[in-house]
Amino acid sequence: MVLLIGQGGFGAVYYAELRGEKAAIKKMDTQAAKEFLAELRVLTRVHHSNLVRLIGCCVEGSLFLVYEYIENGNLSQHLRGSGRDPLPWSKRVQIALDSARGLEYLHEHTDAVYIHRDIKSANILIDKNFHAKVADFGLAKLIEVGSKSLPTRRFAGTFGYMPPEYARCGGVSTKVDVYAFGVVIYELISAKEAVVRADSSGSEPRGLVYLFDEVLNQPDPKDLWKLVDPGLGDNYPLDSVRKMAQLAKACTHENKELRPSMQSIVVALMTLSSSTEDWDVGSLYENQASI
Ligand SMILES: Nc1ncnc2c1ncn2[C@@H]1O[C@H](COP(=O)(O)OP(=O)(O)OP(=O)(O)O)[C@@H](O)[C@H]1O
Ligand SMILES: [Mg+2]
Repeated sequence: MVLLIGQGGFGAVYYAELRGEKAAIKKMDTQAAKEFLAELRVLTRVHHSNLVRLIGCCVEGSLFLVYEYIENGNLSQHLRGSGRDPLPWSKRVQIALDSARGLEYLHEHTDAVYIHRDIKSANILIDKNFHAKVADFGLAKLIEVGSKSLPTRRFAGTFGYMPPEYARCGGVSTKVDVYAFGVVIYELISAKEAVVRADSSGSEPRGLVYLFDEVLNQPDPKDLWKLVDPGLGDNYPLDSVRKMAQLAKACTHENKELRPSMQSIVVALMTLSSSTEDWDVGSLYENQASI
């Protein structure tokens, strides 16, 4: 059985069952030079529970990449797709932590440092237990050299997620991913797209970073609640939202040197996630009663 699941910037993704295992097969519109097949094979050896596993690849006219199939769609669909329940706050924090762990692994623990360069909510996949896995890592280099005919937008990542230095001079460092990750955190808070489209009043499209900066740069960011996803209702701890927003602000700092590393982001999110779990599991009052 083969089904089309989606169409991305570089080709189509199909669902297939291979020897009884569910797989997602990406058919790339790009030609792959031989050295990149070798590089792709290296990627098949990168294993982490928060990274979508590349099972294999082959060239049969086009280049095909075979990935483990992730059941539950991507983060963008969960935040903005119709017919889905809004993600509870604790799951959003968990998804941030999972994705941060996946990225930290790429930045710190693989033989070569991988910079993802296309972090965005569509590249964060959600499994059936609502854990997140980062998709499409290691492809940036392949695309850059493999397909010179693609429009420049594709080289540079996705609009709305690119840090200023990247758009200006193409400077690539792990801090490019940190910036895009900050935008994803803003999406988790607001459920808005990275670039908020013009509304009927004719306002300009605005980046999410700009919208949050406006609020967070006030002496007392009391308007933060206005940016919180209405789908959450009142079911969120404002303090936790505030801390997530501060983290995203640090990640999207104009000066890349001042952005935190993925390592310290993981530590911050671990602390936040343990306190958020308390908040969600019920009231502190209940815990105290059982002591
Ligand atoms: N391993 C996978 N398991 C399940 N669904 C997947 C998998 N990989 C991709 N998809 C889905 O296939 C669709 C297309 O993915 P694709 O990566 O081609 O495009 P994209 O992520 O929207 O953009 P980009 O080309 O910039 O990565 C997305 O909706 C994604 O959620
Ligand atoms: Mg993708």
